[in-house]
Amino acid sequence: MTRIVVLTGAGISAESGVPTFRGAEGLWEGHRIEDVATPEAFEADPDTVQRFYDARRRALRTVGPNAAHRALARLESAYGSELLVVTQNVDDLHERAGSIRLIHMHGELRRARCTACGARPRWDDDLADRPPCPVCRRPALRPDVVWFGEMPYELARIEEAVVACDVFCAIGTSGAVYPAAGYAALASAFGAHTVELNLEPTDAVVPFDEARTGLASEAVPAWVDEMLARRAT
Ligand code: OAD
Repeated sequence: MTRIVVLTGAGISAESGVPTFRGAEGLWEGHRIEDVATPEAFEADPDTVQRFYDARRRALRTVGPNAAHRALARLESAYGSELLVVTQNVDDLHERAGSIRLIHMHGELRRARCTACGARPRWDDDLADRPPCPVCRRPALRPDVVWFGEMPYELARIEEAVVACDVFCAIGTSGAVYPAAGYAALASAFGAHTVELNLEPTDAVVPFDEARTGLASEAVPAWVDEMLARRAT
């Protein structure tokens, strides 16, 4: 049995046409985090925040999974419940590629959250026009994404898997945002082999056992093929 935890970030979806956060073309270059990704911003100017996420939700209709997402779905076909994919991404490209054992720790663009009753309905339309919550009918829906200062989803389940895994692989994440940025060190402390697949080296606090640079669409299928070959022997 080889338990694998894969942590993905914006870099895995970059080649699908979803912008990353940091770097020259990144979302955080064109927007100030504090204007669109904090509970305070939503309170001060809900329309701007809703429009920002409405635009990103709409943009999902024009993109699709790439070879890296598909490779992880292949990995799941072979490893089944021994694999858990934890994504920081709010896009739905992993599930469209076929991943099932998947945690969206920073929430999902295609879900809304009702600030009145707590419902988290599937949502594909705009929120800026303040539609009623399908459960309580109040016009209190916000994007179901985790903003700075809020608690990510399913932390206990993620940490349990990270501590128990044999192989930990981080893909396309800069390691700038905690708690996700701390998972490689945690896995390593509990004896896992750690691998990083990223366009460029990142400065992780605890170095990865293996750090490979390159495009996710090439590096991920190659790593998955190795893991599948290992499974077969
Ligand atoms: P970042 O934008 O911080 O980092 C993306 C990483 O992907 C960088 O290290 C890039 O070098 C790498 N990258 C870019 N293109 C790539 C490609 N084609 N193949 C492989 N790697 C590539 O995104 P995240 O690390 O995901 O949180 O950011 C973490 C969190 O910060 C996000 O979930 C979001 C953001 O603020 C919240 O909104 C709470």
